[in-house]
Amino acid sequence: MILERLSLLNFKNYDEAQLEFCSKFNCFVGNNGMGKTNLLDAIHYLSFCKSYFNAVDSQNIKHNLPFFVVQGWINKTGNTEEIYCGIKRGFKKQFKHNKKEYERLSEHIGLYPLVMISPSDSELIWDGSDVRRKFMDSIISQYNKNYLEKLIAFTHILQQRNALLKHFYENRSFDSMSLEVWDDQLIAYGEEIITIRKNFLNEFIPLFNKNYQFISGTNEIISLEYQSTLKNRFYKDVLSESLSRDRAIQYTTVGPHRDDLDFRLEYNSLKKFASQGQQKSYLLALKLAQFEFIKEKKQTKPLLLLDDIYDKLDETRFKKLIELVSGEQFGQVFITDTHPLRIKEVLKQNKSEYVIYKVEGGVIEKHG
Ligand SMILES: Nc1ncnc2c1ncn2[C@@H]1O[C@H](COP(=O)(O)OP(=O)(O)O)[C@@H](O)[C@H]1O
Ligand SMILES: [Mg+2]
Repeated sequence: MILERLSLLNFKNYDEAQLEFCSKFNCFVGNNGMGKTNLLDAIHYLSFCKSYFNAVDSQNIKHNLPFFVVQGWINKTGNTEEIYCGIKRGFKKQFKHNKKEYERLSEHIGLYPLVMISPSDSELIWDGSDVRRKFMDSIISQYNKNYLEKLIAFTHILQQRNALLKHFYENRSFDSMSLEVWDDQLIAYGEEIITIRKNFLNEFIPLFNKNYQFISGTNEIISLEYQSTLKNRFYKDVLSESLSRDRAIQYTTVGPHRDDLDFRLEYNSLKKFASQGQQKSYLLALKLAQFEFIKEKKQTKPLLLLDDIYDKLDETRFKKLIELVSGEQFGQVFITDTHPLRIKEVLKQNKSEYVIYKVEGGVIEKHG
């Protein structure tokens, strides 16, 4: 799968931009704040219908302008397909494939897979469990359409149940019958979601281990484990045991919406005990495993976006990574770097096809 062309109008710090890409390495070089990451984010829109960084679409419109348009031309099967995303302040998002608007955006998710590796991935270690659930859920949603629908249904039921708990609390009342209506559905969806997540991890973990060994060049023992609030018990039992607590705080405290992933290195918490280098390798291995996993499931090489990867790796590991992604098992790659010469040197040695674009304050120029 190749992104052949990208066109931007009023997207973030760009007025207008047209870019053509080669089938292997495409680099955006320039100083900080010039708009390199914004280009990756525009590509992210084409795949996920949204920004990687900012959930509020309208904030990605260039300041003081009414709309943005991001268009991409992707060749997946020998034909070029056009993807269009238009955001206008105060209007519904327009997302089209070959000029035809989707009925639901979820139809698009997974068609043009993409993996972004960015300095902000460290959130996976430092932020709350929601970020780790999102990581897992977003991979699963790319190949399992039902999963996304189950998650949406579960969340809806959960909101209803929490509203009811709140109602009981405020009215000093309780009616087990009306709660059970929600509980039955919550349990059914909840158990399914947890099973799908665990099955996903069973396939994902071997890929993750393999990539960590490659990146770190060590035999350090790492682990990634599903940590469930159910602790291998039936949701029904755990839910009924937590009822008095849930009523007191008017919130459902157990279920897949509270589950987490536990990251460990040599049996210890990655967050508390691992070195920065080990943490970076761990994150990179997670992302490379994501790539490999999606590639197998979708039988398509995802676009790979590497944002400021030097932040993550020393020189040797950087070269190792470039060597890895230049291989057959990877497809088209987009890289940002603040040092134009550094990336050029590495790519020259590598012998793969490459294009370098120089980015300066929203203006893009082909460079060597
Ligand atoms: N909606 C927006 N309108 C105008 N400029 C924006 C908008 N969103 C972000 N920017 C600008 O984009 C620049 C950051 O671009 P970015 O791609 O992150 O730079 P870098 O080259 O360091 O990766 C900042 O100067 C920021 O002010
Ligand atoms: Mg950047």
